[in-house]
Parts: sequence; C-alpha cells; structure tokens
Amino acid sequence: MIDIFNKFYKGKRVLVTGHTGFKGSWLSIWLNELGAEVTGIALNPFSDRDNYVLSGIGKKIKADIRADIRDGALMKQIFVEYQPEIVFHLAAQPLVRLSYEIPVETYETNVMGAINIMEAIRATKSVKVGVMITTDKCYDNKEKLTGYKEEDPLGGYDPYSSSKGACELAIQSWRNSYFNPTDYSNKHNMSLSSVRAGNVIGGGDWALDRIIPDCIRALEAGKPIEIRSPKAVRPWEHVLEPLSGYLLLAKKMWEKPKEYCEGWNFGPEMDAVLNVWDIATAMIESFGYGDLKDVSNPNALHEAAILMLDITKAKNRLGWRPRLDAKQTIALTADWYKRYKNEDVYNLCIEEIECFLRK
Ligand SMILES: NC(=O)c1ccc[n+]([C@@H]2O[C@H](COP(=O)([O-])OP(=O)(O)OC[C@H]3O[C@@H](n4cnc5c(N)ncnc54)[C@H](O)[C@@H]3O)[C@@H](O)[C@H]2O)c1
Repeated sequence: MIDIFNKFYKGKRVLVTGHTGFKGSWLSIWLNELGAEVTGIALNPFSDRDNYVLSGIGKKIKADIRADIRDGALMKQIFVEYQPEIVFHLAAQPLVRLSYEIPVETYETNVMGAINIMEAIRATKSVKVGVMITTDKCYDNKEKLTGYKEEDPLGGYDPYSSSKGACELAIQSWRNSYFNPTDYSNKHNMSLSSVRAGNVIGGGDWALDRIIPDCIRALEAGKPIEIRSPKAVRPWEHVLEPLSGYLLLAKKMWEKPKEYCEGWNFGPEMDAVLNVWDIATAMIESFGYGDLKDVSNPNALHEAAILMLDITKAKNRLGWRPRLDAKQTIALTADWYKRYKNEDVYNLCIEEIECFLRK
C-alpha cells in the first residue's frame, strides 16, 4: 500500500474508539495497512453488512474490544492495559434525528463519553496524541453562505449538534487545564486536538436517515428514494478525505506537539457543496436506474438548511487538501455498494484507499 506518512504509523500503538462504525472501520483498515498496532473500543456493529463486519477488520487488529465509553472506570482500565500512544476518538451517537428521540443518551455518549476518554488519556502516560472527532455541526449555524472557520462560535440547535458543541467546549477546557501547550514537557506530554468534518459518505455505511444508505436501501428494494430535505446543502466528502486529514494531523502533533493542538476543519472545496437532491440524482446516474420522490414535510423536525466549512487553515498549515471532486466522490462511494456483495470487502477497501491516494 502507498504510505504517504513515511512509515510513521508502523509499529505505533493506536487506539480507535468507534472502530465498528462507518468511519472507524475505514480508519482501522487504513491504520492496519500502515502497520499500526490497533486497539478498538466500541459497541456491536449496527448491521451484519457494515464495513466492519464484511471487511473482517476486527480479526486483523491487535485488540477488538466491546466496551461502553460511558463507563469511565472501564475506559481507564483498557487504556492502562493497552498503553496506546495515539488516540482517535470517534465513538458517538452521531445521528441528528435519533438525537431528538434519545437526547439524554446522546449527551451521555457524546459529552461524558468524550470526557471519559480524555480522563483515560490523562491516566495513561503513554498517550502523546489525542485527536477528538466532533463535527461541522458543532458551530452555531446561522445558515450563512460562507463556510464556518475554526474560531467561529460553537452552538447546535438539535441535541446531537449541541452535544458536539458541548464536547468541543470540554475539549478546550481539558486542553487548557491538563494538556496546556505552555506546560508541555513540564507537566504533561500530550497534544490534544479536535477535528470537524463535513457530511461523510463512502462504502459500508448503513445508518438510518443518511442519504447514501437511504439511496442504496431504496435502489436494492426497487423503490423510489424518498428525499426529506431536497434543498438542504451539505459539505459532502468521501470518508477517506477527513481520515487522511486526521492521520496527517496526528503525525504533525507527534512531531510538533505544541503547534497543532487546536480545532481543525476537514471539508470539501466549495464547489463540491451540493444539495441532497443532487447527491441522490448522482447516485441514480451512477447505478443506471432508480427514481426520486420528494417527501419533504414542513412540520418535520428541524434540520439545518445550509452548512459549509472553511478549510483554509488545514490547507495552509497542514498542507492538507481534498483529493476528490464531487463526481469522483460519488463514483468512489457507489463503487463500494456495487461490489460489496461479490468481492472480498477488505481488499475492496484497500483498492479504494489506493485509488484515492493516486488522485
Ligand atoms: N458520518 C458523518 O457524516 C460524520 C460527519 C461528521 C462527524 N462525524 C463524527 O464521526 C464519528 C464517527 O461517525 P460514524 O458516521 O462512523 O458513526 P457510526 O454510527 O457509524 O459509528 C459510531 C461508533 O461509535 C460507537 N459507539 C456509539 N456509542 C458508543 C458507546 N456508548 N460506547 C462505545 N462505543 C460507542 C459505535 O459502536 C460505532 O462503532 C462520530 O463522532 C460522528 O459524530 C460523522
């Protein structure tokens, strides 16, 4: 596999929370191929055709642990046992509509869960880098047409978005109080950042109320794709885009711990920002069949109409940039769903990572 990180991850002990999920499974596969010793902490996968299950990544990593991040004592125990050097915290309740139904659980997982992970990091001196995954929805969304910058005010209308805004505040506080860059090497040896990605698409996601899984379920069932918010605009990006950013950031934090311990946006270029109807239409074109049905309801639960990210900082200071345009993003996403039934899914993921890296 092409290694754009110059063997940095080879032999490193990396702990990934949420490795049974959509983004976490891809990250674990990529890290595994880079030679990292991966420990995963998560709940059971959502379905038996998730990327985690079909790729068999759980059997390839060093430790595949089922544990609840709301159990702080257990997190500390696992960290002390496995002595990770780098932590990517992805585990969360990540769905806006579900958060309206289970707000307390959403907050317990997204806020207290993240705090438990930071406390486990604090209790484990081996950890040098912590990358906390939040979301583009952590900003106070004024539905503006320019993208949010890292220093814009945090917020969140619905329980999911606000839980991630609250999580960002907790991360800031833990960085100020325990992992302050001015105290680096005197009081601690930790660099802590938070990362905010856009709407991530790619193979192996079957979550409810997300546009790509909704498209595939409808196409496979021969039914029209029902679109709730046809005009909602989102920063869509292939899952490998933010993951390439997280991996690059962690390497830079390791090398210069005081320089990169901040918040970072990883979104697409502005011209790749499309509405939901356009994304679903592009999926239909890619599959060569299917229909769309507008089921928008003026009384539906509030979901943001516009959300965009400004990625200037990651471009200028990390040298990161998105590799795929909107068309290539859809094509690579559709590729997985066209092939997953008949191919070795681990190899399929590796092939897609290599295709992404060649761009
Ligand atoms: N998918 C997106 O479009 C997107 C966009 C921006 C940010 N994010 C963020 O990225 C991260 C991963 O998202 P995803 O799309 O892969 O979600 P996912 O639902 O596919 O995966 C979530 C993971 O978290 C684990 N998890 C949930 N509750 C847990 C708990 N109490 N204890 C232990 N593990 C628990 C699940 O088992 C799973 O492994 C989340 O933090 C999410 O908020 C996702």
